Amino acid sequence: MQGAVTASGSKNAALPMLAASLLFEGPAVYRRVPDLADLRTLFRLLQDLGAEVQVQGDRVQTEVPSHGPTEAPYEVVRKMRASVAVLGPLLARRGRARVSLPGGCVLGDRPIDLHLKGLHALGADLQVRHGIVEAQAPAGGLRGGTVYLASSRGSTVLGTANVMMAASLAKGVTVIEAAAEEPEIEALAALLNRAGACIHGAGSHRLEIEGVEALHGGECEIPPDRIETGTLLLAGALTRGRVRVNDCRPDELTVLLDLFHRAGVPFAQGGDGGEAGLRPWLEVQPWPNPPRVLDVATRPFPGFPTDLQAQWLAFCTAGEGLALVTDTVYPDRFMHVPELNRLGAGIRREGNTALVVGPVRLSGAPVLASDLRASAALVLAGLVASGQTIVRRVYHLDRGYEALEEKLRQLGGRVVRERDPESP
Ligand code: EPU
Repeated sequence: MQGAVTASGSKNAALPMLAASLLFEGPAVYRRVPDLADLRTLFRLLQDLGAEVQVQGDRVQTEVPSHGPTEAPYEVVRKMRASVAVLGPLLARRGRARVSLPGGCVLGDRPIDLHLKGLHALGADLQVRHGIVEAQAPAGGLRGGTVYLASSRGSTVLGTANVMMAASLAKGVTVIEAAAEEPEIEALAALLNRAGACIHGAGSHRLEIEGVEALHGGECEIPPDRIETGTLLLAGALTRGRVRVNDCRPDELTVLLDLFHRAGVPFAQGGDGGEAGLRPWLEVQPWPNPPRVLDVATRPFPGFPTDLQAQWLAFCTAGEGLALVTDTVYPDRFMHVPELNRLGAGIRREGNTALVVGPVRLSGAPVLASDLRASAALVLAGLVASGQTIVRRVYHLDRGYEALEEKLRQLGGRVVRERDPESP
């Protein structure tokens, strides 16, 4: 593959940033909002909560009255777990929230105990009955508190977002210890601070939030999607192509670049200030010798993201040697393994580790996508598999990749979308 594409706005930054509009007095304007099924689900939920949401291309304007409904029903949360990000904002601005408990998903057990622990530390009364979280702020409103927000698998991204949003309107100071350090938390904190919040330490493991009386929307841009960028670069590396992703954030992908370096996949980067007017870009280049595959264990940021684990596994089939790919964040996130094996990958799974021995010649076959990143890995594998690969249930892909097949086609990939009879 060869060519250049532009990164879309980040799904995982956009979701909490748009949920934050529930906190704002007056209108808020978001630019570079990706056109994704998950965002459309969130818009519908915001509208059900009384928000006005106007979408014009990648510009979205929201306005949310201070009073209105406070329920995120099972039908929505079941479809998209990130709906839980309305819990903190509803509680802070409207004093109560009823949010269905998300339960597990194909990635395995995904509890929200830390979200509840954090909101409890702000004085909220929380009851879980009949699969619904019923949250109520105390009479005088939420008040600051200190909370340690990690489990044995590390911190929680959306949990940190929820507590940070609620604490922005609480009385007094909140300290979140073991906060998630992901760039999406930094983007959310920057948005809240521009709206009048007082948040220090975003991007570190300790957040200090001084509550304010009110927050006022304003205008912001969703940052580029680091997982989409990583997926496109891995597509380039897998196909021994020259693929450039424009307007991305290289500093958020240093772990992947380090792996490319050690694997022997050449890459270049630029645009960060040196070349006038050009926004940062990253490019993978054709490898002179087959890459060495490397062991990888997923970790919270700045470690290797679990959201690139499936795509990394697909890339390893092109490399030489034996690699152990371990997911410490979601130990059961391996539904793509049997499907990659239908293409001849020969991956063995033991607990939270997949073992791949490359290089293998993949051969096209019909496969089933189980979730968003698994679908991306199967599409990537299909690019190098001989013959035709048909990925079914590709609606998973549309939850989090904006026009992926168009971008891959732009790079010379032979990908077409057909109507999927299994689409819901
Ligand atoms: N966890 C708990 N208790 C909690 C919350 C999380 O034990 O209350 C555990 C989880 O089970 C997991 C770990 O902590 O083992 C991390 O989960 P986290 O809460 O950070 O995940 P999340 O915020 O629900 C976001 C992304 C995911 C991404 C994870 C990890 C969004 C909308 N989702 O989920 O993205 O995998 O962080 O980086 O931001 C995807 O885009 O494909 C995706 C699944």
